[in-house]
Amino acid sequence: MATGKDQLYADQITREMETSAKARGTGIAKRSPDYIRLKMLEGKAVIAVTKDGSWVGFCYIEAWDHERFVANSGLIVSPEFRGSGVASAIKAEIFALSRKKYPQAKIFGLTTGLAVMKINSSLGYKPVTYSELTTDEAFWKGCQSCVNFEVLKSKNRQNCLCTAMLYDPAAENAPVDSKQGGIAVSLGGKLFRRRKREFKGNFKLFERWMRFKKSVLLGAKKASDKTPVW
Ligand SMILES: CC(C)(COP(=O)(O)OP(=O)(O)OC[C@H]1O[C@@H](n2cnc3c(N)ncnc32)[C@H](O)[C@@H]1OP(=O)(O)O)[C@@H](O)C(=O)NCCC(=O)NCCS
Repeated sequence: MATGKDQLYADQITREMETSAKARGTGIAKRSPDYIRLKMLEGKAVIAVTKDGSWVGFCYIEAWDHERFVANSGLIVSPEFRGSGVASAIKAEIFALSRKKYPQAKIFGLTTGLAVMKINSSLGYKPVTYSELTTDEAFWKGCQSCVNFEVLKSKNRQNCLCTAMLYDPAAENAPVDSKQGGIAVSLGGKLFRRRKREFKGNFKLFERWMRFKKSVLLGAKKASDKTPVW
C-alpha cells in the first residue's frame, strides 16, 4: 500500500498517465498530482517501486454511490517495467485492499485495454452492461475528458467503446444459474447474450467483439454526424 512517504512520485505518475493516454489515443479522467498525493495519504493506493527507489507502477481506489461501488482506477506501469506482470500484481493488491476496505461494494472498471480485461477477468470480474454500474454523476463526469465522450452521450450513458467489468461480492457465493452464463453485452440498447461461448480465457473472441462494437458505435456516430440538426 502507498503511504505519505510515496508522495514524491506523484508528479512522475501523473506525467506518465498523460503521456500513455496520448500514445494510446485515448482520453482519461485528468488526475492532478495533488489528487494522487491525497490517495496515498488516505491509504487508498498501491505503488510499486524498486529497491533503489525508481517508480514502477501505481493504482488507486475510488468509492461511489455512498460506497456501494468501488473503482480501481489510474492503473499505470512505467514503460520500462511493462510486460513482466507488474500490473497484474498491483491490481491483485488493490483488489484485496478494496475488498478489505469496502467488503460489501461492487468493484467495477471501464476499459478498452486487453491487458486490463485479462487481469480483471482473472480476478473474477464479469463483463456487464452499463446499467449495472454506478449512477453517481461524479463518476461519469470523469468520462468528459475522454475522446469518445460524444459516443457515450449519444447513447445516453448506456454504452460506449469501453467494456464495463464488475466484481459482485454477492454473486461470488450465489448458486449458478445454468440458463444464464456467457457474455451479456448491450449494443444500441439491445441486450445480446452469448450462451455457448465462454468469455474466460477466450480473448480472441473478445477482441472480435471489440472490433464489432467499435465499427457499430463509431459507424453510428459518423452517420449521425451527417444527420442535419433542426
Ligand atoms: C496496461 C498496463 C497497465 C499493463 O501493464 P503490464 O505490467 O505490462 O501488464 P502485465 O505484465 O501484468 O500483463 C497482464 C496481462 O495483460 C497482457 N498484456 C500486457 N500488455 C498487453 C497489451 N498491450 N496488449 C494485450 N495484452 C497485454 C499480458 O500478456 C498479461 O496477460 P496474461 O496474464 O494472459 O499473460 C501498461 O501497459 C500501462 O501502464 N499502459 C498505459 C496505461 C494504461 O493503459 N492503463 C490502463 C487504463 S484502463
